[in-house]
Amino acid sequence: MSTLVVYASKHGATQGIAERIASKLGEAGQEAEARPVEAVDNLTGYDAFVVGSAVYAAHWQKEASAFVQRNRTVLASKPVWLFSSGPLGTELTDAKGRDLQVAAEPKEIAEFQGAIGPKDHRVFFGALDPGELGFSERAIRKLPAARTMLPEGDFRDWTEIDAWASAIADHLAE
Ligand SMILES: Cc1cc2nc3c(=O)[nH]c(=O)nc-3n(C[C@H](O)[C@H](O)[C@H](O)COP(=O)(O)O)c2cc1C
Repeated sequence: MSTLVVYASKHGATQGIAERIASKLGEAGQEAEARPVEAVDNLTGYDAFVVGSAVYAAHWQKEASAFVQRNRTVLASKPVWLFSSGPLGTELTDAKGRDLQVAAEPKEIAEFQGAIGPKDHRVFFGALDPGELGFSERAIRKLPAARTMLPEGDFRDWTEIDAWASAIADHLAE
């Protein structure tokens, strides 16, 4: 089985998750490679797909959504796993007490569930390096509502990411 891990990453956190998943699949004996969405134009030869995107303003990156829309017929015919790289911080619940990884589900995911029937979608905690941000992102971080939601740091949970990749590898091996 050959698996393509496609990702859209603005500042690198999602790229790191995608590369880790591909590497874990490789360790489990699966052929796998991670590629940025803009470098993928042909899905021929792959048996399974993992597609992930960073989340900004509750949405996937446009290129990642466009990739799913454009390739929905192929993706619907193969095993596909989706992930989002989103929430920041060490709190596991939001202000309303909801599980943050559920509350942070991007708007597109419900539509993708219907269009391609993914095996799973997982929201992973992300990372934010203020030195990487552009002017408008810095301005958003200064808004009172965003200040607590966008703390600096790397909150990626590698144990959780590895476990998810292992479950995918198990499925592919069946
Ligand atoms: C301006 C801004 C807006 C963000 N909006 C959201 C959001 O709506 N939901 C969310 O879960 N994470 C949000 N995040 C956090 C990013 O999704 C997180 O930092 C992600 O890991 C970044 O991935 P990347 O480095 O691959 O771009 C936001 C971050 C910034 C800087």
